[in-house]
Amino acid sequence: MAGKNFALIGAAGYVAPRHMKAIADNGGNLLAALDPFDSVGIMDSYFPGADFFVEFERFDRHLSRLLREGTKLDYVSICSPNYLHDAHIRFGLRLGADVICEKPLVLNPWNVDALEEIERETDRNIFTILQLRLHPSVRSLRKKVMEDPAGKIYDIDLTYLTSRGNWYYTSWKGDPAKSGGIATNIGIHFFDLLIWIFGSVEQNVVHVHTHDRAAGYLELERARIRWFLSINEDVFPDDIRKKGWRTYRSLTIGGEELEFSSGFGDLHSESYAGILEERGFGIEEIRPAIQLVHDIRNAESMGLLPPYHPLAEVKLSPHPFK
Ligand SMILES: NC(=O)c1ccc[n+]([C@@H]2O[C@H](COP(=O)([O-])OP(=O)(O)OC[C@H]3O[C@@H](n4cnc5c(N)ncnc54)[C@H](O)[C@@H]3O)[C@@H](O)[C@H]2O)c1
Repeated sequence: MAGKNFALIGAAGYVAPRHMKAIADNGGNLLAALDPFDSVGIMDSYFPGADFFVEFERFDRHLSRLLREGTKLDYVSICSPNYLHDAHIRFGLRLGADVICEKPLVLNPWNVDALEEIERETDRNIFTILQLRLHPSVRSLRKKVMEDPAGKIYDIDLTYLTSRGNWYYTSWKGDPAKSGGIATNIGIHFFDLLIWIFGSVEQNVVHVHTHDRAAGYLELERARIRWFLSINEDVFPDDIRKKGWRTYRSLTIGGEELEFSSGFGDLHSESYAGILEERGFGIEEIRPAIQLVHDIRNAESMGLLPPYHPLAEVKLSPHPFK
């Protein structure tokens, strides 16, 4: 496993250090990194010897030269904005590397089809980061559900609150064309794990979908789910706010709460370990969740049509810049 060579795209962003650490934790070597923004001092903590580029063309030329000279590039890791993932994935595959791409792998189901074609053409693999599937509470829940009698249907409330400041709406994350909007950008992890645990989507109703929150009702093979996501702190219930928490993740299953706000420390490193040991999550694994977030993004909001999540009743907030 040791000694794999990596290149990294999107090195100056928020999540990139977790990838640098994951590469280092798994004995890998970062050959080169790219980001148009040059605030990448963090590289010193992991790979001071790696080359860094702010221009794609020079990064491409450099990697091509290394390949010509006989260096093997094993993986390209992608931490760029969501709407650039599929172009960056193609780049990695065409260089002859496997690709490790952040979530959401792509924004639309037809992007998945196109990538599958290139995977076949290049005979390389695409892996995505779904670190919530590795969380111990989630794993034990899945095991329990799989052992429960067939035909058992669970009633679930999913609540995911994670506050973001006004900067979010200036950045690409606040632009639905670039991030896919909140249900895609924030929600994909949860929709993926719900489908992973409770089976495929049978009904999908969206109640509310604005710049700072989304709520709806889902029926999966084995669950009925009222869900609510928000990045607006004003929506947080008082008990959460009093604890000073900025993130709250909870699944209430038949009245019992599975709270998993913590325990995410090294899940990127664990994700990389799985990929290097050929247990990574490939492109087919994420297709149902990409289909679902695409459908949610394009669904008409129905308002408070029962059954709805209690937080869907909270008064809407104006967009900070509109
Ligand atoms: N798995 C997780 O829990 C998790 C957490 C946060 C973010 N993410 C995902 O990671 C990715 C990056 O998110 P982030 O929060 O680090 O965002 P960010 O905005 O902090 O970082 C993105 C970086 O990409 C760079 N970039 C922009 N255009 C580029 C280009 N053409 N080529 C190369 N780099 C370019 C930006 O300069 C920036 O440094 C997103 O896909 C996001 O959804 C995943």
